[in-house]
Amino acid sequence: MLKWINRCLLSLVAVVLLLFTIFYAWGGVIIGQIYSVEPRKVLLSSRPDVITRGERLAQLYGCFRGCHGDDMEGAVFFEGWAIGKIIAPNLTRAMDVYSRSELEAIIRQGVRPDGSSIIAMPSADFSTMTDHDLSAVLSFINQYPEQDQDLGRSRYGIFPRFMLVTGEFNPEAAKPRKTPWASGFKDNQLRYGEYLAMNVCAECHGADHEGIEGFTPPLQIAKAYSKDDFNKLMMTGAGLDGRDLGLMNEVAQRRFSVMTETEVESLHFFLQSR
Ligand code: HEC
Repeated sequence: MLKWINRCLLSLVAVVLLLFTIFYAWGGVIIGQIYSVEPRKVLLSSRPDVITRGERLAQLYGCFRGCHGDDMEGAVFFEGWAIGKIIAPNLTRAMDVYSRSELEAIIRQGVRPDGSSIIAMPSADFSTMTDHDLSAVLSFINQYPEQDQDLGRSRYGIFPRFMLVTGEFNPEAAKPRKTPWASGFKDNQLRYGEYLAMNVCAECHGADHEGIEGFTPPLQIAKAYSKDDFNKLMMTGAGLDGRDLGLMNEVAQRRFSVMTETEVESLHFFLQSR
């Protein structure tokens, strides 16, 4: 009897190990997949007004004082045995490491210079970012004092690999890629609001704004917010009923509070229209 139980246990361990190896290797194939890019030029500027605009946008989009650290020195986003080590790299060094068009491809097309896909940064959500906005953000980063930190490259553990194999999440370059919007829509509240929702909210509320199960609600919930309440949510992170909104609260205070009145109004207008 004991022998039989031992055999069952051994077979079970063997099956688990086999599945682990298959998912690990298959995930590796997906991670290593090569994508093509459309070469695009990015112009940088040293004009103070462009740098100031770039600083505000870098904060709003999450590069500055957000996912990449307070001084864009890089940050470990997730770390754990099953997750691996997901790193948001040092952006102040990225300007020396990559050419401008390589950076454009990473940010808006989700493709690294070696052709592999970005995995954790929401490049697909940034794919509509105008040349004008991207240029301002990169101009700001370009003149920011270089920070001395090297966290290395991300390592993907079994959990993200499993999610990639099952299609729970996809490499950024494999997602439907939109083309950058041409400037000139910002006086149209609806279009400006849509643009902001894509570039700022979609990373957590989903590309279709339908929310992500177990993480965020659909953005339809914003319809319950009057203009003033919505402004308060963006500026302070305070929910309607004074409820603690956790990450939403944090991200509003760190990032969304830099939005202009026009931006908040446009975003509110767009969300009310859906
Ligand atoms: C970094 C992730 C993140 C980003 C980016 C983000 N949100 Fe959220 N948001 C959350 C989370 C998490 C919740 C759920 C909070 C809860 O219910 O505890 C949430 C909840 C909300 C709610 C519901 C509040 C309520 O009354 O329950 C609204 C409205 C909202 N977000 C709007 C936005 C808008 C508009 C944007 C873009 C400007 C945005 N969020 C960007 C994470 C995010």
